Amino acid sequence: MSLQRMLKLLYALVLCVSANEDFDWTKNERGSFYYGTFPTGFSWGAGGSAYQTEGAWDKDGKGMSIWDVFAHKKGKIFLNDTADHSCEGYYKFKDDITLMKDMKFNHYRFSISWPRIFPNGIKADHINEKGIKYYDDLINMLLDNNITPIVTLYHWDLPQVLHEKYGGWQNASMVNYFNDFANLCFERFGDRVKYWITFNNPWSSAVEGYETGEHAPGLKLKGTGAYKAAHHIIKAHAKVWHTYDTQWRSKQKGLVGISLLADWGEPVDITNQRDIEAAERYVQFYMGWFATPIFNGDYPQVMKDYIGRKSAQQGLGTSRLPVFSSQEKTYIKGTCDFLGIGHFTTRYITQKNYPSGRGNSYFTDRDLVELVDPRWPDPGSEWLYSVPWGFRRLLNFVKTQYGNPMIYVTENGVSEKVQRCTDLCDEWRMQYFKDYINEMLKALKDGVNVKGYTAWSLLDKFEWDEGFSERFGLFYVDFLNKNKPRYPKASVQYYKRIISSNGFPNQREVESWRRKATETCSSSNQLLAAARRKSQQDSKEQAGMPKVWPVHDEV
Ligand code: NOJ
Repeated sequence: MSLQRMLKLLYALVLCVSANEDFDWTKNERGSFYYGTFPTGFSWGAGGSAYQTEGAWDKDGKGMSIWDVFAHKKGKIFLNDTADHSCEGYYKFKDDITLMKDMKFNHYRFSISWPRIFPNGIKADHINEKGIKYYDDLINMLLDNNITPIVTLYHWDLPQVLHEKYGGWQNASMVNYFNDFANLCFERFGDRVKYWITFNNPWSSAVEGYETGEHAPGLKLKGTGAYKAAHHIIKAHAKVWHTYDTQWRSKQKGLVGISLLADWGEPVDITNQRDIEAAERYVQFYMGWFATPIFNGDYPQVMKDYIGRKSAQQGLGTSRLPVFSSQEKTYIKGTCDFLGIGHFTTRYITQKNYPSGRGNSYFTDRDLVELVDPRWPDPGSEWLYSVPWGFRRLLNFVKTQYGNPMIYVTENGVSEKVQRCTDLCDEWRMQYFKDYINEMLKALKDGVNVKGYTAWSLLDKFEWDEGFSERFGLFYVDFLNKNKPRYPKASVQYYKRIISSNGFPNQREVESWRRKATETCSSSNQLLAAARRKSQQDSKEQAGMPKVWPVHDEV
């Protein structure tokens, strides 16, 4: 072959490879169900978080978090529920590990409560050894059972003191305080924990905590609060990654990542360029806001352009989106050993102009509207439509945008709509897991580097501003009973089979799973119903009410 021909071929090859790196918005191949298995070593598990599950909110020296305080204010949470007791995971973690062991989990994802370790948020103040002991025991028992701990350092429970003194994530001093906390966790747990997630879903902390105020600390700083909080969170993430890298990595040999929530945005019309651009803006303002600085060194260009332009139109001298210095950009770029992805749902997106004025917010800055297809199943939370193909699209987008990083799916699952639901035969959840996990398998075939999957969540738990009204658990928790017993839903059996087969071996077998799972759940339903009748009776008796029996008409 002549040199010229070789060069031509090489050129064509380079073109081909770089073309692969552009996400193709115009092609959405839905395809049919794919039978096949995951690579050996693929990690299966489930997760939860400290405030949502632990309870023991004021026990053993724990300090208050912004969520403890927020949930205790009237009118913030559905039915004014709090997670004071929740699943009592602080006391029942051994039972929970038994459940995980039975399901043959490879990993369990949980978070460490910052104020359980530093009650006043600050290391110099006080280290709570009882809090450390709780996590030590949890980690040790997981490892004894061959379950790898994946540990989140911040799942939204900022120490209240730091909010009161400094305004929480509005203040740059959080970067160092968080770094101190993370550093102590590396020191005390890092000999055994090898997967660290700095922040869980910082989008929610920023937007719902500081822009809409639906979440703790409940501030409504429209158009600025979320951007400022996110700016400090990104810096804090980078600092913690560097701390691990320089002080702990060589000894401990672990990985540090971040977990980003990312809904998918699909153009309403994939042949319309304006819709494509709007959909891309949706994804960039969501996941890209955090992922682009961390992987590529700065905010997405589209955020800088849109927020900058709208700020100027408002007559502001500088953009409401803070700016990273060039030193900071270099420091932040590349601070991710793996990317955690939390994914639940998808939206159709179309362009809409919001003229700049006084009402500027994160939402109007994006110039788009979110739509849903009424045919999409929405078995659970109001916002959660089941659109499995969106998951594959998202994973492929991540691959192309950030250089095919190592991915752990850190959250994926669906809730129940019924408020006091007692149906353990959760057909819709089995369907959701089956279809979403299958799309993840297709993404793997597309070349996406997914290493593990975390079903969300192990237990029913406190669902933030929705209180206990939305149940995401594989296991039902009877919150009315003070012992908080756990009951398996049908999806436990189903997920267990996915795990033991490492995927979907063949049609005949996979079809039998649903049947088998529903056979067992009807007896669990009866058990639960009987237990609830008994506990209702007991609580009436404790309250001094007369024992009442059902009246039978004598024939
Ligand atoms: C994401 C949050 O990280 C998690 O805590 C929550 O339970 C799920 N979304 C479901 O809403």
